[in-house]
Amino acid sequence: MRKLLSVIALSALAACRGGSAGGAPTPSGNAANARPAGVTDQMIALGDSLFNNGGCMRCHGAKGIGAQNGPALNDAAWVQLKSGTYDEIVQLVTTGVPAAAIKDPTRKNPMGARGGRMNLNDDQIKAVASYVWSISRK
Ligand code: HEC
Repeated sequence: MRKLLSVIALSALAACRGGSAGGAPTPSGNAANARPAGVTDQMIALGDSLFNNGGCMRCHGAKGIGAQNGPALNDAAWVQLKSGTYDEIVQLVTTGVPAAAIKDPTRKNPMGARGGRMNLNDDQIKAVASYVWSISRK
């Protein structure tokens, strides 16, 4: 009986964790590919133009295919991010990647906070993160 109780307690704990991690509980399977709450087609389109007309492609290549100074963003492999969630992308673009935090020593140019010279505002960061999120799921 004691054993049974602890099993129940453990699974209740696991259920709580699953629920609190991403807000609403998501079904397993391709949950990671479900569009994050608040991300719209308009944000992805705005992010596309910021990324590809602005400073991001300078280091990450057109459409995020990767280039000399920045890793590819159009796949599921990440250098800095853990799992590439939308929230992680927003966070990374907000803070940038200072020289000391760059993982690949062949890349010499740090990524500025808020896109460096682009000086993105919060809405623009969300848009560009929506775009990066979308190309990483294709
Ligand atoms: C001056 C070059 C430069 C610019 C401009 C730049 N980045 Fe980066 N970015 C980097 C470097 C360097 C890294 C870290 C690579 C490493 O650790 O080896 C990085 C990492 C990232 C990552 C994490 C990738 C991973 O694999 O974990 C994302 C996402 C990202 N950049 C998005 C952007 C976006 C969006 C923009 C435009 C707002 C941008 N970057 C502009 C150089 C740049």
